[in-house]
Amino acid sequence: MPRLFFALQPLPAEQAAISSALLSTVRAIGARPVPAADLHLTLAFLGEVAAEAIPELQHAAAAQASGMLHIRLSQMDCWKGSDVLCLLPDETAPAPFLRQLARSLGDAALAAGIALDYRPFRPHVTVARKVPPLALRVERWPQPLPAALPFTANGFVLMESTRQPQGPRYTVIDSWPSRDGDM
Ligand code: 2AM
Repeated sequence: MPRLFFALQPLPAEQAAISSALLSTVRAIGARPVPAADLHLTLAFLGEVAAEAIPELQHAAAAQASGMLHIRLSQMDCWKGSDVLCLLPDETAPAPFLRQLARSLGDAALAAGIALDYRPFRPHVTVARKVPPLALRVERWPQPLPAALPFTANGFVLMESTRQPQGPRYTVIDSWPSRDGDM
């Protein structure tokens, strides 16, 4: 069964900019970078979904409105346990809208009969995995980024995660571009 999640994707130029801005940090701590094309912000993680439940999920997702979302990634953090290096959005607008969209998509999945693999919503963009334990202990986290990085999402997407030897890779299987202008 496919492992699915709803997410926001930055514009392709922003994916490249985020990736190159973090390259030296990722190298310095000896973590494994997430490929630029895979950078995203998860809104609702669904886990393994039966193929026959996907059309109803897509139908429920289509009813959720989302505009263009302008997010600024202003801090980086390392999370113990998942051992990821991630970027965190400003706690200013559109954070409330992000939470609302995440909740609505979770509710849409529940309505489509999908039991969520639930974790509290902590908006973040993972930029590297397998952070060595030393980097988690020695560095001070979180740290401000030297300059905030823009993350502009044109609506939201449904992504599939597949396990690969080099780490998970992600594919967009459906998307719902902005209908409502800026949020
Ligand atoms: P991560 O990057 O912090 O690992 C695909 O796995 C995406 O869903 C990733 O962004 C991952 O976050 C996130 N994810 C995986 N399991 C999750 C869970 N149980 N709850 C919320 N998000 C999850």
